[in-house]
Amino acid sequence: MKVLVIGSGGREHALAWKIAQSEGVEQVFAAPGNPGIARLEKGRCIGITPSAFKDLEAFIAQEGIGLTVVGPEDPLAAGIVDRLSGAGHVVFGPTAAAARLEASKSFAKDFMARHEIPTAEHAVFTTAEPAILYVRKRGLPIVVKADGLAAGKGVTVARTLEDAEQAIWSIMVHRTFGEAGARVVIEDFLEGEEASILAFSDGRTVVAMPSSQDHKAAFDHDQGPNTGGMGAYSPAPVVSREMLPRIEQDILRRCVDGMAADGTPYTGVLYAGLMMTMDGPKVVEFNCRFGDPETQVVLPRMRSDLVPALLACCNGTLDMTPIEYDDGACVTVVMASGGYPGPYEKGKEISGLAEAEADPDVTVFHAGTKHGENGRLLTNGGRVLNVTARGKDLRQTIGKAYGAVKKIQFDGAHFRRDIGQKALNRP
Ligand code: AMP
Ligand code: GLY
Repeated sequence: MKVLVIGSGGREHALAWKIAQSEGVEQVFAAPGNPGIARLEKGRCIGITPSAFKDLEAFIAQEGIGLTVVGPEDPLAAGIVDRLSGAGHVVFGPTAAAARLEASKSFAKDFMARHEIPTAEHAVFTTAEPAILYVRKRGLPIVVKADGLAAGKGVTVARTLEDAEQAIWSIMVHRTFGEAGARVVIEDFLEGEEASILAFSDGRTVVAMPSSQDHKAAFDHDQGPNTGGMGAYSPAPVVSREMLPRIEQDILRRCVDGMAADGTPYTGVLYAGLMMTMDGPKVVEFNCRFGDPETQVVLPRMRSDLVPALLACCNGTLDMTPIEYDDGACVTVVMASGGYPGPYEKGKEISGLAEAEADPDVTVFHAGTKHGENGRLLTNGGRVLNVTARGKDLRQTIGKAYGAVKKIQFDGAHFRRDIGQKALNRP
């Protein structure tokens, strides 16, 4: 079978890497992919962007692609699955109607309220003044969110009234996030530690993958601005063995049942961003896709072939598809360009990848790289590499990941030195 992965980041490299391990797969195409995917024995990158639905459809038909896997949220929200499956192709991901769980926070909050899925209390506004009055009445801290997709940047956790008001003005009046700011969601602040649960869904059956935790802040000890994620580890011990059935029942099960009952069955990966509060797990957000960088630590732990699981989600047979994981741990450290998440330079030469990957437990997923002249590899984004290690437990695996990071160099590289520490420092 030929498989097409849509997207170009570390998540898509991890997906292509795992898919390429499937015996039944002869080739993994990526649109547009990245140099890490191009280096896979079965990998091939094609110059089509994720928004070019017509070109993608033509390529799928011409190559006889048996399965298309969509990485990022934008094409999902824009209806790529409706279009490709409408043309008779097998495609992994939710329809545009189901992807509203991520693409509209007000939709997601109303949905959760209707289906009794635990989450923070909220209110939705279409103009700024009533939103500001609500914040004054409700008290601090409070969380202000642009309704639509804002590449993870539309959320402000406000600790002062000024911060909250400024966030509301910037979203609704200045339209910093464009049409995503036509509505604003204001919700209560949830206290606790965050964790991510990704789950496969075929519209009826939902199966959780192992827990993981992202590190969103740019600098050690969760300081500095938010980023797309500076590292991750799996499992996340904050999600205890006792907690998991509750998450499965009260969150994942209710979500998939609710979407089916509402006439928009959810297929693909359901990503629940959770806050583990004193009152139990609560949903901070739903995403309609694999997490980045969570995927880079969950897939390496999957012992089973990924392709049958993806196909089962597309054809409604997830209940008959066993999926197994190893008991060990996985850690990924993001190496970023100097200045990220602010302005940064591109085109710096990267060295030491082969040395880092000499350890069979280490895989470096590419997130923002490009080919230079004479086989050189250059930086080409804010988040450049996901240096990923597997091991028997978190402590040992963190050591392995940082051992590999030490062997890799590029001008201005920066990375957090505390990935996974929260898991080790638990009471
Ligand atoms: P979101 O894009 O909704 O995931 O929000 C981005 C980040 O903001 C989350 O990962 C949390 O760290 C924080 N956040 C969002 N909503 C809340 C909330 N209700 N309480 C506390 N922190 C939140
Ligand atoms: N790791 C956060 C996300 O994928 O949205």
